[in-house]
Amino acid sequence: MKKQDRLMNLKNQIVIDKVCPELASSANNLVFGEGDPNSSIVLIGEAPGKKEDESGKPFVGASGRLLNELLSKINLERDMVYITNIVKYRPPENRDPSKEEKQSFLPYLIKQLDIISPKLIITLGRHSMDCFLPKRKISQVHGMPEKVDGRLYLPLYHPAVALYNGSMKQKLIDDFLKIPMILNEI
Ligand code: URA
Repeated sequence: MKKQDRLMNLKNQIVIDKVCPELASSANNLVFGEGDPNSSIVLIGEAPGKKEDESGKPFVGASGRLLNELLSKINLERDMVYITNIVKYRPPENRDPSKEEKQSFLPYLIKQLDIISPKLIITLGRHSMDCFLPKRKISQVHGMPEKVDGRLYLPLYHPAVALYNGSMKQKLIDDFLKIPMILNEI
């Protein structure tokens, strides 16, 4: 079966399994992920916000515009990578996703990664980092690739923290510029 079909089945399974029914009931859309399932890179954010919930697509609001800008610095467009979130329904009022919500979605995210099988998994922000690289401090490990159980992770700051903070934006740019080199070394 093609990757795209397997991903579609996985998306349907989230609905069939009634994952996080409370979040599902207040959300407009299940924001599963989009992009090239054959890409070497998967980027994982936290959870959909308002714009993402309305459109059903990840990272299409202000953080998404910055993410597009960061990708363009390394000559990538968003349809050349695969973008998703841990939690796939918008938490009400954009609150942080709870530990239970992250745990509920994690098996599906792992299956999503198994299907795509990227060379590099980029976590955006601490929520996404915690799922795969727990007990790290993002201020200490951002931009440093780490291999765990055969998968290579690159923890980065979340673009939202850089929206109104020039020095954080520069840190994110510097970290993004490392991506081509990391991919070359794999
Ligand atoms: N922030 C995220 O973590 N994910 C999105 O899809 C949008 C904003």
